[in-house]
Amino acid sequence: MSTVNTDKLSSARFAQATDAFVEVFTASVDFDRRMAQQDIQGSIAHAAMLCKIGVLSETERDDITEGLKKIGLEIAQGQFKWSIKQEDVHMNIEARLTELIGIAGKKLHTGRSRNDQVATDIRLYLRTEINHISAQLARLQSALLDLAEREADTIMPGFTHLQVAQPITFGHHLMAWFEMLSRDRERLQDCLKRVNIMPLGAAALAGTSYPIDRQMTCDLLQFAKPSANSLDSVSDRDFAIEFCAAGSLIMMHLSRFSEELVLWSSAQFDFIDIPDAFCTGSSIMPQKKNPDVPELVRGKSGRVTGHLMSLLMLMKSQPLAYNKDNQEDKEPLFDTADTLINCLRAFADMMPHLGVKRAKMFQAAQQGFATATDLADYLVRQGMAFRDAHEVVGQAVRLGLDSQRDLAEISLAELQEFSSYINADVFDVLTLEGSVAARRHLGGTAPDTVRKAIETARAQLQAR
Ligand code: ARG
Repeated sequence: MSTVNTDKLSSARFAQATDAFVEVFTASVDFDRRMAQQDIQGSIAHAAMLCKIGVLSETERDDITEGLKKIGLEIAQGQFKWSIKQEDVHMNIEARLTELIGIAGKKLHTGRSRNDQVATDIRLYLRTEINHISAQLARLQSALLDLAEREADTIMPGFTHLQVAQPITFGHHLMAWFEMLSRDRERLQDCLKRVNIMPLGAAALAGTSYPIDRQMTCDLLQFAKPSANSLDSVSDRDFAIEFCAAGSLIMMHLSRFSEELVLWSSAQFDFIDIPDAFCTGSSIMPQKKNPDVPELVRGKSGRVTGHLMSLLMLMKSQPLAYNKDNQEDKEPLFDTADTLINCLRAFADMMPHLGVKRAKMFQAAQQGFATATDLADYLVRQGMAFRDAHEVVGQAVRLGLDSQRDLAEISLAELQEFSSYINADVFDVLTLEGSVAARRHLGGTAPDTVRKAIETARAQLQAR
């Protein structure tokens, strides 16, 4: 008496057809088809396991495997016909498999649910994306090392409160960016440990009555281990949230680099030249060259942090185990991965071509009394207490301000008016070169120290 409506899941249970709008509203195939190859990979492993435990014959397993491979090819070549009626990537592939191989296709879903299937797909997908992102991060780091090496001796002003503070080397500044990215890569690798866990076997939520071999599926899919609890397996999206959190930090870092590049390329700073290939003009102002790439990256950082918030809110208060809410995890996740890869790529491509205006950087460091701390340190070395030295230097700066001269431009006689501790050798510390060269301790800005830091960093990057 029951008729099978192949267009609708669990159709026998329903007396009414799905509302046409609801069908579109609840479907996810438009976006989750992105995980088609992972879905196929998971199904092939599942079928192999079902055969081993005697649920599928070897012929059925081989038919399923061949059928799925064919479907993988159809999808890769853009020939696959996706249907909204089949709701999601999983049902689309299964329906096509049954069309290709008949009854064996209908056996594939034995002992599993779309709930553990989708969790597996996302983890497989994310695992690959994390590797791509890490590779782009490493590319950008390597470009920064090259640039830092080239600019190890370049003097620029270091800022606090965006006011000239103390002279630093540009190589040192670039290595600060490098350090941020190193932590970013570490965070991704740490996140990967929790992504790389196999949920398959949890089925809908309570596991399955078949004597499944989860270790076998786990090994076939090269996961580190099977998940420990079936309820948690289908409902956990922590790993996706962690990924977006790590991604948000990456984008936050890129937004900071971006901001500096935008400022430095302005006529007011004029420290760098962003290559033409990474800028665009204005449709109305012919003279303009806009730093579009860093601006866009800066803007996109907001979008990734937004995705992190979306996922946190998505999971907040969800009761165990799987809920349809979870279907909303994919678009933010995919967009986070895409945005990261694109932004990192643009930066890695741009970095080697960055024009550095060394003379401008040097001039800027000569303004703002950047060596005032060096003068205070000099006085302390001559025996003065730091607080008194601070006071003496304050007077010297006052004179410099009134007479529009940098500290190095004030004569020895004039300086000696402020303190008898001052001798001719004071000019060694008042020059920008002397100031940076003096900071040669671990983590300091001296050119030779920076070159050592670059060497260590390069070795670390290669050993990853
Ligand atoms: N499309 C669903 C998702 O993305 C797959 C799992 C559906 N499971 C279910 N019981 N409705 O989460």
